[in-house]
Amino acid sequence: MGFSQIGKNLFKAKCNTCHHLNRDATGSDLTGVKAKWEAAGEADLLYEWVNSNLLKAQNKSAMAAKIDSYSKREMPNQDLTIEEINAIFSYVDSVVPTFIDAPPNDPTTSESR
Ligand code: HEC
Repeated sequence: MGFSQIGKNLFKAKCNTCHHLNRDATGSDLTGVKAKWEAAGEADLLYEWVNSNLLKAQNKSAMAAKIDSYSKREMPNQDLTIEEINAIFSYVDSVVPTFIDAPPNDPTTSESR
């Protein structure tokens, strides 16, 4: 079984009740989430986030603070190994974002001249 297949199984077993890919559910859409935390310089804190819902209160993660600003919902601690989390994100990263939130063509801005 490939690494991202292991991650897919873990994702379905542990994350999928709350998280979907390419749409929000109880938890947010996770497509591209690793790149987002990496871009914020918090690649390591992403692993802490998954395993500990104390991260919001610890005041050391700008990403956790940002999540707290729009959602007070708690994510249960996952208690996963680094390998398992790597497998999950390897699966998540294999799913291409579809950008379903892109605005539809706005007829009021199209030129009729
Ligand atoms: C019981 C529901 C639940 C489960 C199960 C769950 N989460 Fe979450 N997760 C949340 C909530 C709630 C948030 C906070 C953000 C929000 O409200 O959308 C969150 C946020 C996150 C974030 C931060 C999202 C961002 O935009 O930066 C990551 C990463 C994440 N979860 C990964 C996981 C992974 C990986 C698993 C499985 C191992 C998992 N979650 C399982 C509810 C859950």
